[in-house]
Amino acid sequence: MFYLISIIGSGRVGASIAFLCVANALDDVLLLNRTKDKALGESMDIANAIPPTSKFSIRGTDDYSELSDSDIIVIAASRDNYTKDRTENIQSQVDMIKEIAEKIKQYCPSAIILVISNPPDVLTYFFQKGSGFSRFKVMGIASSLDSSRFRYFISEKLFVPQSSISNALVLGEHGDSMVPIFSNASVNGTNLNSLIDDTVRESMINNIRGYWKQLRNYKSRSQFGIAKNTYDVIHAIINAKELSVPASIVLEGEYGENNVSMGIPVKINQNGVSEIQKIDLDGSEKLMLKESSKKIRDDINSV
Ligand code: LAC
Repeated sequence: MFYLISIIGSGRVGASIAFLCVANALDDVLLLNRTKDKALGESMDIANAIPPTSKFSIRGTDDYSELSDSDIIVIAASRDNYTKDRTENIQSQVDMIKEIAEKIKQYCPSAIILVISNPPDVLTYFFQKGSGFSRFKVMGIASSLDSSRFRYFISEKLFVPQSSISNALVLGEHGDSMVPIFSNASVNGTNLNSLIDDTVRESMINNIRGYWKQLRNYKSRSQFGIAKNTYDVIHAIINAKELSVPASIVLEGEYGENNVSMGIPVKINQNGVSEIQKIDLDGSEKLMLKESSKKIRDDINSV
């Protein structure tokens, strides 16, 4: 069964995702950009990373009708840059996602949709509502990036390899209200909470939430972390491998939430989200997650 991975938006993030898919001979890749030359240039460059043993290739376009054979569509497009907050350009981003949803509904109604563009929770919500796609076919990819930052800080603070860390999840908004779940995390089988004090916990929460701003002191924006996290999801779908990962999905009662999209633990397989996983949260985590869903809901209602 041949897949086609289409990536809308061939900026740093979209091009990095395309590069990982091509260099790992995952599948044919279509890079779409509203500026065709950008898509052509990136695909020409990435084409030189096609392994000699690969059956697959890459091409660039600005024509949405070429999406028609896509099995997986990654939305990594942005109309404007943001500097202080991921929701700065929320109106133009929501307008953009509504237009994209209409085109995808027209050309490839059975594709699985991965939303990367910021603010991903709000855009996942509006894509799912605008397209009418099953909520299990539309997921925002960002909480896995936040979780990789959580693992990074645990590894650095406790001088342990990331391979010794389990269940270090960040849920909720991909934004300042995101919720690192300490109660489920463990290091070599020992609960994380027993290894750190409140001061370290608070500092880790702030560092995870502020990572993207810290990063921008040194480079314009992140690309490789989000690209790898997105690639892992694409790899699981194409290879029909079950993957447990936090992702943003429209909720219908799960975690006590309705009609909002936010990062929660899910299982993914070749059909998209195969299961919403229920995990126990402690009192403070439940409270923070409720605050986070309210923040996303307020953003949804602001446009
Ligand atoms: C970040 C962007 C991808 O967190 O939102 O780096």
